Amino acid sequence: MNQDALKKMVGQEAVKYIHDGMVVGLGTGSTVKYLVEALGKKVKKDKIHIVGVPTSHRTAERARRLGIKIKNINDVDHIDLTIDGADQIDRNFQGIKGGGIAHLIEKIVAINSKKNIWIVDESKMTKYLGSFPLPLEVIPYGSTQLFRRLAKMDFHPTFRMNGDQHVLTHSNNYIIDLHLGKIKHPHKLSRKLDDMTGIVEHGLFLDIVNMVIVGYDNGPKTIK
Ligand code: 5RP
Repeated sequence: MNQDALKKMVGQEAVKYIHDGMVVGLGTGSTVKYLVEALGKKVKKDKIHIVGVPTSHRTAERARRLGIKIKNINDVDHIDLTIDGADQIDRNFQGIKGGGIAHLIEKIVAINSKKNIWIVDESKMTKYLGSFPLPLEVIPYGSTQLFRRLAKMDFHPTFRMNGDQHVLTHSNNYIIDLHLGKIKHPHKLSRKLDDMTGIVEHGLFLDIVNMVIVGYDNGPKTIK
């Protein structure tokens, strides 16, 4: 099975955890796209009422098109469950997110959710985080100075660019990717990055997820 088929498999599997009356955080990315499609079908077929809290314009547009009711996070009093993709997940279920530039909003939705499920194809599972570049959302003002500091710390930063233009996040910030190779102590690194002025949010998602659904050739596996 190719990677896309595995993403579709876990997207469809995850929809089983969404029930009538729930407020559901909807992540971002090519795996979540399949979740939203499956959810749109379920809403129509089973006539259930759910409210989606999207983490990007892309997800919001897709959900709306498929007949899923959407609300802003500020207009709901709780989120029952958030389902999102991930770029890497280690053996302790810590993750890297932000490959799709949405990690700031994804983290805000995740920490405000009673439960979080990640859906990934098997290629995302790894012993150590870090072979996938760690995204930082940074304030444009002074970002070259921040970049130099990160380089001095041996974090091997690169600005995420689209040609000669900076890629902009939903909040009009820049992305710096750190090429770290292997993150041996994710909590230590998280604290260090939290302390650096100019970084709005990093893509380390630690102690956030309750359940992971992994797509393998022989079917989806749920890990709690
Ligand atoms: C976006 C994300 C995505 O969840 C992550 O990049 C996974 O994406 P995909 O499902 O397309 O592989 O963190 O910011």
